[in-house]
Amino acid sequence: MAYQHIIVTKEQGYAIAQLNRPDVLNALNMKLMAELVEALEALDKDEDVRCVIITGNEKAFAAGADIKEMADASAMDMLVRDMFARWDRIRKIKKPIIAAVSGFALGGGCELSMTCDIIIASETAKFGQPEINIGVMPGAGGTQRLTRAVGKAKAMEIVLTGKMISAQEALQWGLINKIVPVEYYLQEAKDLAKEIASKPPMAVRLAKEAVLKAFDTTIEAGLEYERKNFYLLFASDDQKEGMKAFVDKRKPEWKGR
Ligand code: CAA
Repeated sequence: MAYQHIIVTKEQGYAIAQLNRPDVLNALNMKLMAELVEALEALDKDEDVRCVIITGNEKAFAAGADIKEMADASAMDMLVRDMFARWDRIRKIKKPIIAAVSGFALGGGCELSMTCDIIIASETAKFGQPEINIGVMPGAGGTQRLTRAVGKAKAMEIVLTGKMISAQEALQWGLINKIVPVEYYLQEAKDLAKEIASKPPMAVRLAKEAVLKAFDTTIEAGLEYERKNFYLLFASDDQKEGMKAFVDKRKPEWKGR
């Protein structure tokens, strides 16, 4: 499928969605977000794809929502555009998503990386929620996901000052998984995607769902949810194969069923 603002490529077992508005540091305009969501939903249905990487370029993952597109909007315009409805659809993607971040991940860019399941950053990555500097505040989940990731104190500091934090700080504060030299950040994400793609897909899907459940439920309900997913996997061929292969001391062959 040809898109205007993203480039989608499929590799063995995984796919890459690259944000592609380099002239504006991958500012997330409505067209780009529509394309990204459409691509992610198509990849979610594609049985050859078991993991997705979202990336930008070395200079910018994304410098936020497109300010020029929003500058003259009224509250009613924003309500009618309902741009964040698309972000809810990203949250519903069942396959694991890895953000491979280099350079700026600001505002909606930071929020997009946090909507992914794992964040691999280059040593030049800079994260932040600078909306306060342009008279607004995070709108695509920043106040919620950042707070859950780094805690109230750090989230307040980032959201209220709008300052950027380095990849090192982001790692220390628990926002990201790993920092790698800029030449390797995409390769690192690809290696991780390949590893996840080699696992039984149903177990991956239900495990992702259960981890995400921890964000919006009580421990009691979350444990119940986890248990049900665990039991459900005993209805899969891959559970039989995985456990039999262990006993037979051989490599399992996954069917994805
Ligand atoms: N929207 C629209 N255009 C943007 C943009 C954005 N978020 N970020 C950068 N650009 C454009 C610039 O306007 C510039 O375009 P021109 O060449 O046509 O002038 C181009 O990208 C390059 O940017 P700079 O010249 O500013 O590059 P720099 O290296 O000097 O600075 C930067 C980089 C610090 C990231 C700076 O561009 C910046 O502060 N960008 C805005 C960051 C921001 O405020 N993001 C939050 C947006 S609101 C939001 O995201 C709401 C939400 O919760 C969803």
